[in-house]
Amino acid sequence: MYSYTFADYKDFWGNSIVAYTQDELKQQVAKAAVEYVKEGIIGVGTGSTANYFIEELAKVKGRIEGAVASSEATAQRLRNHGIKVYDMNDVDSLDIYVDGADEITSAMHMLKGGGGALTREKIVAAVAKTFICICDESKYVSVLGKFPLPVEVLPMARSQVARALVKMGGRPVLRDFTTDNGNVILDVHDLTITDPVKTEAEINQIVGVVTNGLFAARPANILLLATADGVKTVTKK
Ligand code: 5RP
Repeated sequence: MYSYTFADYKDFWGNSIVAYTQDELKQQVAKAAVEYVKEGIIGVGTGSTANYFIEELAKVKGRIEGAVASSEATAQRLRNHGIKVYDMNDVDSLDIYVDGADEITSAMHMLKGGGGALTREKIVAAVAKTFICICDESKYVSVLGKFPLPVEVLPMARSQVARALVKMGGRPVLRDFTTDNGNVILDVHDLTITDPVKTEAEINQIVGVVTNGLFAARPANILLLATADGVKTVTKK
């Protein structure tokens, strides 16, 4: 279901005559997300789109008590804007969690973790009543997996997990990166993920995996999608 929240300029035939850069689209969707910020403590994600959201959130920070961050980078950015950051363990529930994604489908299944914050993102998402995913239209796909699937792994299990992922048909590549939790990330290429709920569970069963970047068991509730025709609000079909 689509509804428009941003007007756009059209030519005589109704075609869009405004070309936006990807960053402009991210800014527009971040602005739209702030309309969902009411009060209390909110969850804030990680990445360039989430960073634009933080900029917009800072303008209305008086409305909220504070935020829970899905990464150290986001926590620092929130503090820099004078927004109080709460420890996840001190918060029982969150009305909303706002975060980006690397890919999302019409079923609201997401592939996340391009910024390496997937585990904390999944924890904050689990506590939130409403997951608001903010993306530009390049992220809206019919099948997940073109973007390599990040898998956070305990360092000593790296090789054994990589072998298991190869058996599943993937091509794991070790990222030159250490997560906020002190772990490593395998980016798994060449997966066509037709059953994201099953694949998410299967990969999480491999010993040594902390979690993987499929957000299918807990999908998004609302997708705000920035397009050349404005920001569309998409909910599950
Ligand atoms: C970080 C994430 C991000 O939400 C995802 O990578 C999208 O990032 P960006 O908004 O920069 O495109 O999952 O771990």
